[in-house]
Order: sequence, then structure tokens, then C-alpha cells
Amino acid sequence: MENKLVKLAPSILAADFARLGEQVAEAEQGGADRIHVDIMDGHFVPNISMGAPIVQSLRRVTDLPLEIHMMISDPDFFLDQFVEAGSDSFLVHWEGNHNLHRTVHRIKALKKRAGVAINPATGAIVLEDILPDVDQVLVMTVNPGFGHQHFIHSTLPKIKRVRQMIEELKPGCELEVDGGIDEETAPLTVAAGANVLVAGSSVFGASVGVCAAMQHLRNKISGAAIK
Ligand code: DX5
Ligand code: ZN
Repeated sequence: MENKLVKLAPSILAADFARLGEQVAEAEQGGADRIHVDIMDGHFVPNISMGAPIVQSLRRVTDLPLEIHMMISDPDFFLDQFVEAGSDSFLVHWEGNHNLHRTVHRIKALKKRAGVAINPATGAIVLEDILPDVDQVLVMTVNPGFGHQHFIHSTLPKIKRVRQMIEELKPGCELEVDGGIDEETAPLTVAAGANVLVAGSSVFGASVGVCAAMQHLRNKISGAAIK
């Protein structure tokens, strides 16, 4: 039986950019619930990726929600251009943002969904005061900056804690995980309480193809219930 409660968010960081439209169409066909777009500035993380023009191009080829993961030093400065390009939601990091409440409320004022992301070394406790204001929490299961890294298993107890906090403070808030999610790790995160899975290389890098890879992921999580 499929676990319909769990959403899949393929990350295009691992896609073939020369065939981005086709790859997103494949993900859509495979049942993607949203497309995860990783924005990196070479400063907040030691890598650069893409900007608003990619979102604008994606907007023309898919109706799926476009989720923008802002791994940049000053997300506020870029929100407007990403909204104009057609973004639907933003994940902003707790780390390095001295005015996170302002950032979250700017996103809400732009009528977009807002989420807060935390890195592997950041404790769940920092979410307590901002949780009532957000639609999503993103627990990073690798250090941000690169695709195809190994899942950090010590993040699992944190996922459980965040799930408890969500049930207490903001039922309905999504709990997303990002980094090293594959057939082996996906069920572990779902059992810990995640209900949105970002997957890059295990979807776009799979030799079996995008649709089959997504089906394999779904099969693996079908038995894993949120505890
Ligand atoms: C990493 C990004 C991820 C990345 C995940 O900093 O935030 O979204 O694309 O890639 P995989 O699934 O390959 O670990
Ligand atoms: Zn990401």
C-alpha cells in the first residue's frame, strides 16, 4: 500500500541541466509532489548552483509547486525576484540569519509558504519560537552545499524531536528532510516523523530512470508509518 501521507520533492540539483524540462516532466510523471530547487551562493555554502532565471524557466514547463531552498547569505534581498520568477515556497536557514522572524514574515507577506531549515549540528530547540509562524520545517540530513553526500544518521533523533514539537506547537506543519535520502534512508526518516522527502541523486541519478526510482522510493516508505 502506498504511503500517501509522505510527499516526494525531487531536487533538480542532481538533474541533467541540458535536459531540465524533460527531467522535470519525468519527475511529474513519477508522481512528484513538488520540485525542490537548491539556491547556493558560494558564501553561505561552499558551492554555487542556480538563480531565479532557472525558476522562471521551470515555471513555464510545470504546474508543480516550486520549493526554493535558500542556501544564501542574505535571502531577504532575493525574495522578490524569486517570487516574480514563479516560486511557491521558501526554505530559509536558521543559521546566520539574525532576523529570521522578519524573513519568515516577509515571505508570508509575499503570500508564499515559509519554512525554516536547520543544519545537522543545529538543535531542534531553536525552532520552538518560530514554529507557530511557519508551514514547514526542513531538517538537513547532510551538511548543505552538495548533492550525493552520505546521510548523517545522528539526525534521526532530532527528526523525532521536531515531530513531537510540531504535534505540540503547530500540528499540520510539514516536516521535510533533505540530503542522502535513498531507498535505505527514506524509511528511517519517515519512521522518525518526516512527511516530505527531498531526493536528488537517488531520483535523477538513478540508472533505472526517474519514474522507476521514485516508485522504488515510494515502495520502500510504504510500510514506514509516522510514529
Ligand atoms: C544539499 C541540497 C540538497 C541536495 C540533495 O545541500 O540542499 O537538496 O540536492 O541531494 P542528494 O539527495 O543527492 O543528497
Ligand atoms: Zn535542498
